[in-house]
Amino acid sequence: MAFGGKRVGQVVTGLGGNGVGRVLVAVAAALLFRLFSGPGPALLPDSEPEGHDENDEFDGDGGAGEKLVPGNVFPMTIRWRNITCSLSDKASKSVRFLLNNVSGEAKPGRLLAIMGPSGSGKTTLLNVLAGQLIASPRVHLSGLLEVNGKPSSNKAYKFAYVRQEDLFFSQLTVRETLSLAAELQLPEISSVEERCEYVNNLLFKLGLVNSADSRVGDAKVRGISGGEKKRLSLGCELIASPSVIFSDEPTTGLDAFQAERVMETLRQLAQDGHTVICSIHQPRGSVYDKFDDIVLLTEGALVYAGPAHEEPLAYFSKFGLLAKPRYHCPHHVNPAEFLADLISIDYSSAESVSSSQKRIDGLVESFSQQSSTMLYATAITNRELSKSSPKLSKKTGIKKKGGWWRQFWLLFKRAWMQASRDGPTNKVRARMSIASAIIFGSVFWRMGRSQTSIQDRMGLLQVTAINTAMAALTKTVGVFPKERSIVERERAQGSYKLGPYLLSKLLAEIPVGAAFPLIFGAVLYPMARLHPTLSRFGKFCGIVTVESFAASAMGLTVGAMVPTTEAAMAVGPSLMTVFLVFGGYYVNADNTPIVFRWIPRVSLIRWAFQGLCINEFSGLQFDHQNSFDIQNGEQALERLSFGGSGIGETVIAQSRILLFWYCTTYLLLEKNKSKYQRLELPPPDQIQLEQQLESFNTDFVEKRSQLEPPLEQVQSNLQLESPPSDQVRPFILEGL
Ligand SMILES: Nc1ncnc2c1ncn2[C@@H]1O[C@H](COP(=O)(O)OP(=O)(O)OP(=O)(O)O)[C@@H](O)[C@H]1O
Ligand SMILES: [Mg+2]
Repeated sequence: MAFGGKRVGQVVTGLGGNGVGRVLVAVAAALLFRLFSGPGPALLPDSEPEGHDENDEFDGDGGAGEKLVPGNVFPMTIRWRNITCSLSDKASKSVRFLLNNVSGEAKPGRLLAIMGPSGSGKTTLLNVLAGQLIASPRVHLSGLLEVNGKPSSNKAYKFAYVRQEDLFFSQLTVRETLSLAAELQLPEISSVEERCEYVNNLLFKLGLVNSADSRVGDAKVRGISGGEKKRLSLGCELIASPSVIFSDEPTTGLDAFQAERVMETLRQLAQDGHTVICSIHQPRGSVYDKFDDIVLLTEGALVYAGPAHEEPLAYFSKFGLLAKPRYHCPHHVNPAEFLADLISIDYSSAESVSSSQKRIDGLVESFSQQSSTMLYATAITNRELSKSSPKLSKKTGIKKKGGWWRQFWLLFKRAWMQASRDGPTNKVRARMSIASAIIFGSVFWRMGRSQTSIQDRMGLLQVTAINTAMAALTKTVGVFPKERSIVERERAQGSYKLGPYLLSKLLAEIPVGAAFPLIFGAVLYPMARLHPTLSRFGKFCGIVTVESFAASAMGLTVGAMVPTTEAAMAVGPSLMTVFLVFGGYYVNADNTPIVFRWIPRVSLIRWAFQGLCINEFSGLQFDHQNSFDIQNGEQALERLSFGGSGIGETVIAQSRILLFWYCTTYLLLEKNKSKYQRLELPPPDQIQLEQQLESFNTDFVEKRSQLEPPLEQVQSNLQLESPPSDQVRPFILEGL
């Protein structure tokens, strides 16, 4: 080393004085280095807003007319009535309605868009329809949900839910991602050629042919574009041939071009027979043209539900006097923008808030008076129902999964690809291992056999145990919460079991995970001149490797316990600090208070430290002049209360800890499955009223062309809601 060890030693002694001081200085130096040593381990991709790729323009149309799942889509009509979702606030004893008496239907072969301003309840409605509203004691959910005319729970049919964030294994290519998903979900396609053809069809259909062999990528290594990620998400969901596709804000974060591509894919899926329901904030005109039906929501209430295109415009233009329609959409205005303006509250002044609120209340009220006629204007015919019902259970039940070993093998392949291909992360980890080894090696440069070297040895072995544990823990907690989201999504699709997933992860990460402690050991050992035999060096590396795996397993538990990466980053190191205090160096095992005696027994740092000390000290002779000096390593071990135990014992203890954390992770992942809110029946009087309305309106259903809002009623409602005449101002829409 250019800066001789002795001088560094003097500086450190000056700073810290004794062995504890050296330990602290070394840990601080390592942490500082870690802080400034470039980016952390690669995370799985964040959903990031993307511009469109140049490649996309030459992608073609995505294969219009090509059947993705020929003849495989089972027609499903979903009908919902009187969906009410309320949120009670115990503090203010108030109840807020997130959805208020919402009804509607979605039919096969049609694309339904749920539109409305932000916070109007689009995602909530979508979650309710998909049976995915997270359960909460504060939420009360009631209503009727029918699938093909039968009361339904979400387990009864296959559906896909494409969420806003797109999470994938970043190191796999688009083709590999789809191919693995197909292998996991469709074990019945056994031949490689068939599967290739299936995946190629899917790629063609999704317009992903040009990017098929690009890696998905992540925040550090640029991969496919945002629109492509969205379509890949769709593709992964489509493999299970869902009858119904839910998609929450599929265009958010995409530019207009990408947004249109995604919506075109959804429209084609609808044309192939899927029932497609998406929520969307404010689509451009060409996207609006793709919708078959729309539901307009504002503050959780329905303003319109029925066919899209001209119908809603005709419906709203009927308000007011015939000669002077109040809500008329001019020709040059995008209908979606017109509708968005119509149902949004204008917060520019107190007056505008009050007038827009009145307008919306009037629209909600008048729609509720005639909702059954509008909603069921495209009623399902009896023939359709009878045709589909008998096949329901046979075709739509959850598929048989592949065997345990098959799942294990596929997941092992994926975990291996992810771990071994992640060049940037592996480079950073390798650099960090070398750098910490150099820092520690410089601080504890060429330790001799003096009495003071005993404390130095202990300090070095303690920082080694801490550094190894922290490096493995932070890497795992930084990555696992996101991977967990993917795994939960895939398990919700019934792709695989937890057992094969965890085992495959453990085994696939062994070679890559073991490389870094080995690099660390190989650099540090000769620099610090630890016990100079090859077998001791091998054991040193073995102990830190096992410790590294145990710390990773603990990271998995933390990642499974808390909801986000940020929370895991806060909890993981704090938990490790407890094990660090009882790591065998700071508090002697014999002096540990009885209530805390169990902590050193479960502390992976303590067992690693004990193993390293036994490996280092046993058989070592020290220079001594006085009778009270320590003469050999065995005496030093006695002082640490480590006498009488062997390395094997410490490795077994660490393996037990590793197993414990793995089992805890398994149980947590199994137990922490999301719980969804149950849909309760609406109050009986509401159902009766609804039935009466339905029978009353049967004639209306058959004569759809006669559909018109009851004008007098609308006007009387508006009058009822109107402010005093001096406050009444004509409603003017921006841009009209
Ligand atoms: N669990 C909950 N606890 C408290 N408030 C909630 C909960 N779920 C939804 N909300 C509230 O309900 C309203 C509707 O939420 P939702 O996410 O459905 O709106 P959205 O129409 O999807 O909005 P955006 O367009 O911004 O996504 C919001 O005001 C939201 O704050
Ligand atoms: Mg939303």
